[in-house]
Amino acid sequence: MRGNQTKLFCLIGDPVEHSLSPKMINAAFREMGKDCVYLAFRVRKEDLGITIKGLKALGFLGCNVTIPHKVSVKEHLDSIDESARLSGAVNVISNSAGELIGYNTDGAGALKALEAGGGRLSGANVLILGYGGAARGVAFEIAQKGNPAELAISGRSLSKALSLAREVSALAPAHAIPLSGCREARADIIINCTPVGMWPKINVSLLKAEDLGANCTVMDLVYNPLETELMRLARLRGCKIISGLEMLVQQGARAFEIWLGEPAPIDVMRRALSGDAALQPGWKLS
Ligand SMILES: NC(=O)c1ccc[n+]([C@@H]2O[C@H](COP(=O)([O-])OP(=O)(O)OC[C@H]3O[C@@H](n4cnc5c(N)ncnc54)[C@H](OP(=O)(O)O)[C@@H]3O)[C@@H](O)[C@H]2O)c1
Repeated sequence: MRGNQTKLFCLIGDPVEHSLSPKMINAAFREMGKDCVYLAFRVRKEDLGITIKGLKALGFLGCNVTIPHKVSVKEHLDSIDESARLSGAVNVISNSAGELIGYNTDGAGALKALEAGGGRLSGANVLILGYGGAARGVAFEIAQKGNPAELAISGRSLSKALSLAREVSALAPAHAIPLSGCREARADIIINCTPVGMWPKINVSLLKAEDLGANCTVMDLVYNPLETELMRLARLRGCKIISGLEMLVQQGARAFEIWLGEPAPIDVMRRALSGDAALQPGWKLS
């Protein structure tokens, strides 16, 4: 860091104390020899507008946005791209010559993580659990780029699942099913886009072992613990499992590319998170 030349990046959210993004992104900057630094700021809901103005005034080049600001931040930006418009949420902001542009890299990150984990989307029956910000990003990305045979959306509210399925069906065949009907969906790929199973309530899963076919690929967006209850059930069933940590790396890599316009050192970012030092209270390796 040279100080007055250093380019600034950050995460805003509440809470941010346990975020792994600073460790991962700063490792990428170091590897690429960039004079850049990435910090995490706890920002309360009522301070969001003034924070965004401040980031612009101070010349921050980029920012990640997490809960609870992913939706409300849109109104403070100059524009949003197609990924943010479709998902309705922003998790990356780029400062392009003073103009703040919002993006959503969750869907792209999930698709990359699925590919990296050997999940085959083309022609697959895909079951998405949840219909929130991440689920929307994942569903639209898969519908646009994954060429699935069918997308099923499920969750504890069938009407909310139906509403997302209706929107997505403009791009790919999609329907909604109740959680109790997930076994009959015969999904090839299941993606949990809800926080169910996240630390500290780690012994719960939206699906039972019998809902999972043995040839199914199961990805959980939750990465704390590294193996969720859903992933444990899937592993015992013989399914292929993909951790949310890989998606975290892939969406972070996409953010790096948006900010700096060059490929991110993905292996370095992955290694930064896999060491013991990255484990937070509540993390569990098996
Ligand atoms: N790995 C990654 O890189 C990555 C990236 C983004 C998000 N995530 C994780 O993905 C999860 C969802 O994030 P999000 O931004 O989409 O949150 P969100 O917009 O708040 O949506 C949450 C979704 O989960 C459902 N849900 C919440 N509690 C539930 C419960 N007890 N039982 C059943 N469904 C429940 C909600 O349905 P209702 O409306 O019915 O409550 C909604 O569909 C979080 O755990 C987040 O940390 C991971």
